[in-house]
Amino acid sequence: MSIHRRRGWEIPESQATPEHLVLNRRALMAAAGAGAMLAPGAARAQFWRRGEPQDPWARLPADLPDLPAAMRNPRYRPERAISAEREPVTFNNFYEFGSDKGIWTLAQRMPMRPWTVKVDGMVEQPGEFDVDDLIRRIGLEERVYRLRCVEAWAMTVPWTGFELSKLLALVRPQGGARYVRFETAQVAPHMVGLRQSWYPWPHVEGCTIEEAANELAFMPVGLFGRPLPPQNGGPFRVVFPWKYGFKSGKSISRITLTDQRPKSFWETLQGSEYGFWANVNPEVPHPRWSQATERLIGSNERVPTRLFNGYGEFVAGLYTGLQNERLWA
Ligand code: MTE
Repeated sequence: MSIHRRRGWEIPESQATPEHLVLNRRALMAAAGAGAMLAPGAARAQFWRRGEPQDPWARLPADLPDLPAAMRNPRYRPERAISAEREPVTFNNFYEFGSDKGIWTLAQRMPMRPWTVKVDGMVEQPGEFDVDDLIRRIGLEERVYRLRCVEAWAMTVPWTGFELSKLLALVRPQGGARYVRFETAQVAPHMVGLRQSWYPWPHVEGCTIEEAANELAFMPVGLFGRPLPPQNGGPFRVVFPWKYGFKSGKSISRITLTDQRPKSFWETLQGSEYGFWANVNPEVPHPRWSQATERLIGSNERVPTRLFNGYGEFVAGLYTGLQNERLWA
């Protein structure tokens, strides 16, 4: 059997580099008068509108059981309108399925059950948990959180799920555990992006044990009261609403407690731009663009970005004494 390996220069730029890493180069070319090229924002918006169906939920995998009812927790006020349903479910970042925002149709084919998550490492009671058992044991609530992507777009999302701390209580972290590592499942052949071998798969993210124990750290299994669809990280993901969205790993199959700081997917790819902490800060620009404002997906309105994405009262205390760390990248 002969295998044809493409040489590096045969790979189109849009495949070789994550979209938000090439935007600046494209913008520069456009500014330099590169003919009919669209500005990056325009190209992106057009892409997802083109395939927009009447009902974005219509093609969810058949193996998704309904969620038990969950009450909205009024403690977490988003202070802006919830995004229209179609926005979070048809405009996604999920590189396991490809690097454009329109992967939702492709992701629909991923089987969602059975789904287990292994929790291991420095814990007293490691285990492999069935996601439906976890839902029954821990119970569900709804939280409306702001979501701020490092690419300077934003949404407001009603997640259904449970606090990460409640899952950690089941496995009882050992005293020496300092970090939590989140690993995304590699579901071949459905995750076609995994074939792009220049990415450091599996997708890994991490946080400190204190961040994981914070009341805001949340494990969604649902969205808009329905089961979390694959494109949003179903059946089981994590969200840290005070950090840039890339810290919130999707479709998680393994959680490991450790005394070593995990090196994340984006940090491995481009550590100078995407670091371990990645807390939202409007005053610290990304090396290639400002983070002062964000574009609300749907209305396209530009609004000011807030420190810790507006969640400072819950999380600012986590970072005292860490001024020498790169907290904002
Ligand atoms: N998790 C995995 N496994 N793979 C990814 O590509 N993208 C991240 C994050 N989690 C990503 C991921 C980024 S960059 C963002 S902004 C959010 O997921 C987007 O979540 P959403 O598509 O539900 O809005």
